[in-house]
Amino acid sequence: MKITVHTKTKEYPVIQERGILKRAEEVIGRSGHVFLVSDDGVPEQWRKILQEQYPEAHMHVFANGEQSKNFDTLKTLLEDMLEHHVSRADTVIALGGGVVGDLAGFAAASYMRGIAYVNIPTTTLSQIDSSIGGKTAIDLNGHKNCVGAFWQPDMVLVDTEVLDTLSPRHYSNGLAEAIKEGLTFDEELFAVFEKDDYREHIDEIISRCLNIKKNVVEHDEREAGERKLLNFGHTIGHAYESSHGLNEYLHGECVGMGMMAIMNNEELKSRLAAVLQRLHLPVSCESDPEEVFRLLLNDKKADHGRITIVQVDEIGKGYLQDISTEDLREKLI
Ligand SMILES: NC(=O)c1ccc[n+]([C@@H]2O[C@H](COP(=O)([O-])OP(=O)(O)OC[C@H]3O[C@@H](n4cnc5c(N)ncnc54)[C@H](O)[C@@H]3O)[C@@H](O)[C@H]2O)c1
Ligand SMILES: [Zn+2]
Repeated sequence: MKITVHTKTKEYPVIQERGILKRAEEVIGRSGHVFLVSDDGVPEQWRKILQEQYPEAHMHVFANGEQSKNFDTLKTLLEDMLEHHVSRADTVIALGGGVVGDLAGFAAASYMRGIAYVNIPTTTLSQIDSSIGGKTAIDLNGHKNCVGAFWQPDMVLVDTEVLDTLSPRHYSNGLAEAIKEGLTFDEELFAVFEKDDYREHIDEIISRCLNIKKNVVEHDEREAGERKLLNFGHTIGHAYESSHGLNEYLHGECVGMGMMAIMNNEELKSRLAAVLQRLHLPVSCESDPEEVFRLLLNDKKADHGRITIVQVDEIGKGYLQDISTEDLREKLI
């Protein structure tokens, strides 16, 4: 599948094809040099496939994990780019999950005021969610994605074959975002997760999500309206994430529990719970509701005791709703 994402600053192809990593050089086909970026959690077999196609190129590999999304890792990466004489005409190619994409994307956005950037996402989360849309960032003093830039990639190559080595936990974690997209935008996508053999439909799941994300990003690049629907489950989910110190639960796991907490429709809730359980994702979060509420208010700008959330009463039809913070508090108990 090939789609073209049209944004105000750039138009770029997203190509999804099993095994495309092996043809990356041919498909990317850029002039100038390339600089490769990955992390040490991406299995060597995938890094090697890319490296072999660019024998002259340097591959910068940093330690995997969210703790690498900081100024120190960014500085080391930028210094390495400088040492390898990366010029304005060159291209950064990122091979990895959301951490590699966010960090390499931000390095590409800031190095010499911005150079070309190709993203090859290797986790379900990055293929579904973070590889298109142009958000790049690092964390600052425990504040996630606090420093960053909107910087669209020049191309995104999505190879579902690389997901074969992903741990079951990370595999399901990313799929929580796909479940969210099914609930808010695409009834047929949600239906795939109600089948036992959902893993056999991974290519369809990813392509449906890429199409949803493309449409939303094109209509609302900077998150003024429609893109907000992608935040379903995130208001409470982020607070769960913070209350557990960003370590215990992964992001997608918190989104799943956040969707469970916010939804009103009991029938839908039990269908969602069944899907989350099928994917071995947690359904409810053990935490102090008052603490979660406090974190939630810190995170979101409540206006005179009111807050905008995303709600779903009917599958595929997410909408924005303005509710009182008191009503939101009750959902946590
Ligand atoms: N830019 C955006 O729009 C956006 C959206 C959502 C999330 N994010 C960011 O994405 C990050 C999370 O991304 P993630 O969930 O991909 O985590 P991640 O990048 O940390 O990857 C998870 C783990 O899997 C390893 N890994 C990667 N590919 C693998 C493969 N094919 N086989 C085996 N292991 C592999 C990684 O090394 C890492 O240890 C967060 O920092 C989050 O803030 C960004
Ligand atoms: Zn998310």
